[in-house]
Amino acid sequence: MKLRRWIATGAVAVATVAALNVAPATAGRPYDPTTQSLGDLALRHGLYLGTAVDMDALNDASDPRYRQLAATEFSTVTAENVMKWESLEPTRGRYNWGPADEFVAFARKNHQRVRGHVLVWQNQLPGWLTSGVADGSISKAELRQILRDHITRVVTRYQGRIWQWDVVNEAVSDPWDTPSTLHYKGFWAQHLGPGYLADAFRWARAADPKALLFYNDYNIEAFGSGNPADDKTQFVYEMARDLRARGVPIDGVGSQGHLGTQYGNYSTFQVVDALKKFAGLGLATAFTEVDVRSQLTEAVRAGDSNEINPRLQAAAANFSVLLRACLAERHCLSFTLWGFTDRHSWVPDWFDNPPEGMATVYDENYRPKLAYQELKADLIYSGPPFVLPRVPQQPRR
Ligand code: G3I
Repeated sequence: MKLRRWIATGAVAVATVAALNVAPATAGRPYDPTTQSLGDLALRHGLYLGTAVDMDALNDASDPRYRQLAATEFSTVTAENVMKWESLEPTRGRYNWGPADEFVAFARKNHQRVRGHVLVWQNQLPGWLTSGVADGSISKAELRQILRDHITRVVTRYQGRIWQWDVVNEAVSDPWDTPSTLHYKGFWAQHLGPGYLADAFRWARAADPKALLFYNDYNIEAFGSGNPADDKTQFVYEMARDLRARGVPIDGVGSQGHLGTQYGNYSTFQVVDALKKFAGLGLATAFTEVDVRSQLTEAVRAGDSNEINPRLQAAAANFSVLLRACLAERHCLSFTLWGFTDRHSWVPDWFDNPPEGMATVYDENYRPKLAYQELKADLIYSGPPFVLPRVPQQPRR
């Protein structure tokens, strides 16, 4: 009996592995995986591979390549800006749904899953909200109600069309902030206290029982000292553990993955370790905003290959570290690039002293860089026993 069960289990395992490893046949032609999109190659592992979408670029008729790649290369998309509060409700009580609706329709048309970004964040808030709080015309009690209404309205509008919501974004300070001991930072913690986090997840769940609800932050790719006073990953880990323990409906932690070639960064094993610890809490994970920027020295700007090549290589290695770690941990559900071309990237606008850029996987003329090829290679040359299909996450009630 035992032997028979063992044989049956073995047969299923072999069949699964075989199914995963069979290259799809193409009529009359040998299958060439290098011609497949990143999105399609990732789906071989049940992983969704995506990009942030800049709606201005998407609608720029003089730049059709942007739309074409956004539509065909990726299986999930995130709105880079148009679902943020300042875009949705620039004037109090008057929601401007147009661009966000258009974005969601674009994803639907291209069979892409949507990461909703973002419900609660201290940046890109509408002026009427921040000034109303500053001049005392919006009280704390009213502010809490405004937040509740916003979450409810936005999540309800897109109910059933959002796979993962970034419910709360970047709530934790950095070691370079004052005080340097890590703490809950920013507008919401300041005015409502840290209880707003649990409230936000509960309100989001009430408005959409099926979306996966994420906490999203940067510099949490790997653990550091293990002391929550200075290790942001540990701080977020303990926060998520506490929320889970209290029954708050948080389903995942998003690690943004904004890296730079001038930093030490991590080994794949360190990143796997972090993903495993979050999974140990019953949480899904995702890389949500991956890019790898470089300093644009004078020589780089002058086209000196001695300085450009090491940057391209270091960037490729860093993209690859995050993707391989994600592949290795079965609860890592998606891997999203924060823009895919240097033609449209937030990096040069934000880092100008010294100037930084080269942060994405296609150059300004849509030529794929080494990073793009290495991401593909990671997706192609991986599989059982160490890379297995994703484990779907059930939304927590
Ligand atoms: O909408 C105005 C436009 O009317 C004006 O003409 C133009 C002039 O500069 O500015 C436009 O707004 C800019 C907006 O992007 C849309 O392009 C803002 O100035 C600019 O600050 C804003 O930057 C965005 C940034 O978030 C703001 O915090 C970036 O595009 C966006 O990539 C970035 O994304 C964040 C994630 O949401 C959260 N994690 C970090 C990540 C990178 O900062």
